[in-house]
Amino acid sequence: MWLIDQTRLPGELVPIQISSIIQLVEAIKTLRVRGAPALGVAGAYGIALAAELSRAHNPFDLISELEVAAEMIKSSRPTAVNLSWGVDRALQAAVRLETVEGIREAALREAEEIAEEDIRINKAIGKNGAKLLEDGDSVLTHCNAGRLACVAWGTALGVVRSAVEAGKEIHVYACETRPLNQGSRLTAWELAQDGIPVTLICESMSGSLMRKGRIDKAIVGADRITKDVVFNKIGTYNHAVLAKYHKVPFYVAVPLSTFDLRHEEADILIEERDPDEICTISGTRLAPHGIDVYNPAFDATPLQLVTGLITEKGVFRPPLMPRI
Ligand code: MRU
Repeated sequence: MWLIDQTRLPGELVPIQISSIIQLVEAIKTLRVRGAPALGVAGAYGIALAAELSRAHNPFDLISELEVAAEMIKSSRPTAVNLSWGVDRALQAAVRLETVEGIREAALREAEEIAEEDIRINKAIGKNGAKLLEDGDSVLTHCNAGRLACVAWGTALGVVRSAVEAGKEIHVYACETRPLNQGSRLTAWELAQDGIPVTLICESMSGSLMRKGRIDKAIVGADRITKDVVFNKIGTYNHAVLAKYHKVPFYVAVPLSTFDLRHEEADILIEERDPDEICTISGTRLAPHGIDVYNPAFDATPLQLVTGLITEKGVFRPPLMPRI
């Protein structure tokens, strides 16, 4: 399996080959591969890889090995539901077969199907969302919900791309997204590559820009949508509250695979990450040694703050939700 190492962007566009489950788990934990849909695809290919690497001679041993690999991959990052969704889909496709070869082929076929589906779904999200944007709009986005977070096109950035493709002039304000800077490293890079006008800001600047009337809409992606909230990159909630106050429509662009409507906010674990992500930057210390640090990767935005959920099946305005 080949991935773009997202930790090396924007400096270098480097592909890495993943040849073991341990290597895949490391790549997920360190965010070499990241973004909910991309994690789903990587998780499914992880099952196909585990099947290919296995030396099992019978289907029972092979399935047991795949179940162990599935647990290792799923527990590497707990919040984005697409990771477990992709792993489980490939695993379920595999267990239906009765031969070692059949299991291997089924896991690979399902991973390939998920990857192809992701492109079709993002194009549909883009088409549905593009109708909400007007020529000349400035759109605020947070983190990276672009093609790097998916297989291609993107969810939130897919909406922007589809609007631009339809002939509209759209300008994006990309929030830096501390502490790991997915906004400045990835979103700004992707949009600049496509020639879509983008202005980089720190997340603390969004309120002031809304107050000045310089943001027409906000569009973000999501890692999981439960009955009551949208989990997305830490900082999303702040933008949603500010958008409500300033009457800026706040949209979440998301595939149906990110919905988890059997759960609510309290059921979900928000990943807490290494304090060093906040205390250092490129090896330079930014905070005193031993300082107490709180570093959650995601936050929860109540659905009441969301104007619309842009999906491949249309736009749902909470409390209306898609039927999953
Ligand atoms: O920690 P990350 O970079 O994986 O967080 C990613 C996000 O929060 C994205 O907004 C989300 O996965 C949607 S990507 C289409």
